[in-house]
Formats: sequence, C-alpha cells, structure tokens
Amino acid sequence: MLNLDGKTVVITAGASVMAQHIARLMAGRGANLVIADINLDAAESLAAALPSAIAAECDVRSSDEVEALRSAAIDEFGAVDVVMSHAGIASAGLVTDYTDDDWRYLLDLNVIGMARLVRTFLPAMLARKSGHFIFTSSSLAVLHGHPVGVLAAPYITSKAAVVGLAQSVATAYREHGIGVTVFAPDATETGWAPAPVSGADPDELRRVMSSLPRYPRHSPQDAADVLMQALDDGSFLASATPDHARLLHLQADSALDPAALTSQYQTLD
Ligand SMILES: NC(=O)c1ccc[n+]([C@@H]2O[C@H](COP(=O)([O-])OP(=O)(O)OC[C@H]3O[C@@H](n4cnc5c(N)ncnc54)[C@H](O)[C@@H]3O)[C@@H](O)[C@H]2O)c1
Repeated sequence: MLNLDGKTVVITAGASVMAQHIARLMAGRGANLVIADINLDAAESLAAALPSAIAAECDVRSSDEVEALRSAAIDEFGAVDVVMSHAGIASAGLVTDYTDDDWRYLLDLNVIGMARLVRTFLPAMLARKSGHFIFTSSSLAVLHGHPVGVLAAPYITSKAAVVGLAQSVATAYREHGIGVTVFAPDATETGWAPAPVSGADPDELRRVMSSLPRYPRHSPQDAADVLMQALDDGSFLASATPDHARLLHLQADSALDPAALTSQYQTLD
C-alpha cells in the first residue's frame, strides 16, 4: 500500500478531469499536491480547493519547464515522493495520415514527456531510496485489438511505449526503493476530443468513425477509484477495463495476436 500521508505528489496534466478526481482522493489521504498543467488558471483553481497544494505551469515538452516544476515542488514541500505522469494527447487519423511532424509532436508529448519526468525526479528519489512513478497509458495499449484502434494507431503506439518505459523503470529501480504503477484508463467521459492530424482528410475520418460501433465510457471518478485501489494493492497495472485479467490471459494465450480480443469488446445498442 502506498502511504500518501504527508507525502508530496506531482501530477502533470493535473487540471484535467481525471487528474482532478485523483488529486482530491490523494489529498483526502493527506498528500500535498503539485498540480502541473499548461493551463495555469485551471491548475490554480484546483490547487486552491485542496488543503495543501500549489499550481505550476508546465509543458512536459520542455525540459526547462519540467526542471522548474521540480524546483517549485521542492521549494514548497521539501521533496517529491510520487510523480504521476498523466499528460498525454490523442489525435485522430489513419496511420497513413500521420506526417513526420504529427509523429514527432505526439511522441514528444506522450513518451519523451514522461521520460523527462523520470530523468528529472528519479535522482533525488534514488538518493532517498524511496519514490513512486505513476505512468498513464491506456487500455488501448494494454489490451490490443479494439476496433477503434484503426483511428488511433499512433496514439496506441505512444501509449504502448509508455508501458515499456514503466516496465523498464520498474526493472531497473525496484531494488532501489522505486515503485511503479501503469494506469490504464478505459474510454472515460472527460470531454476528450481527439483532433484530426494535419495529414487527415476530415471526410474520410468521418466515414471511418461512423462505421465504428459505439462503446461504453467510464466516469472519471471510476477511473480514479481504480488507480487508488491499485496503489492500495501494490499492483503494477491499474486497469479500468472490466475483466481485464481474463482478457490479458486470452491475449497471452494467442502470443499477443490482437485478433484474440477483437470479438471481446462490449458495444452499445
Ligand atoms: N479520456 C480517456 O478516455 C482516456 C483513456 C485512456 C487514457 N487517457 C489518458 O489520460 C490522460 C488525460 O486524458 P484526458 O482524457 O483527461 O485529457 P483531456 O484532453 O481532458 O486533458 C488534457 C490535459 O492535458 C493538459 N495538457 C495538454 N498538453 C500538455 C502539455 N504539453 N504539458 C502538460 N499538460 C498538457 C491540458 O491542459 C489538459 O488539462 C492522457 O494521458 C490520456 O492519454 C484518457
């Protein structure tokens, strides 16, 4: 169980809907929060509503801003115990639509952004032999074969890289007091609206989107509860997909072939 009482937690994209629920639950357990976001106004509103929190403007694409985030957290609270790397964007487009610039933008934010956080915060954690990283991936990158994947291949690629980063950090530093959790929300009601990438034809996207079945969405509160339960249980994976253990077994039994799960997704009538 991850003890949060009196501990300091940094959350990137901390002003986003899911992160707000997570921050409130963590604050309820006595944590100090550093709400980091590119939207400083929204981060400040949330921080003001929490018992012990500050807001920080931070674009995870900038190493300087991530370094400034670390300094702000240490100036205020002395040390950082938990880093939740939640910032990530989705963009819609067929894999053939993504230009090199689209890929660079997506990977810089979704993958390198998280690696910057590790590089910046890990050394002090190692010196104290204590720390925890939470990496936000996605159910789409843990359980493969979802039909929506046709429109989200680069996003899924980036979120699968997040799983690789998390596993690598866990393997390398677990013996040095560093805990790791992969947070894999399923489709969640966050107002999340993937923007078309620059190479995409909007008419073709609309045609593909309308041909996809509709899927149920979770509430952000449910997703936050799943994460807190995983932190209590000490689980590496916090998956919000119902029955995910059975699905993971099916996937493993078919040697990771995504076809194993394509008939398994629940749809809306
Ligand atoms: N919503 C879902 O269904 C869902 C499912 C699985 C995973 N996720 C993941 O959850 C995380 C948050 O998603 P959401 O749906 O709440 O997103 P959202 O679009 O509602 O919020 C995005 C947040 O990120 C911030 N942000 C954008 N660019 C940033 C940057 N460069 N640096 C720092 N912050 C930045 C924005 O200000 C905003 O607060 C993402 O990593 C996403 O991939 C979401």
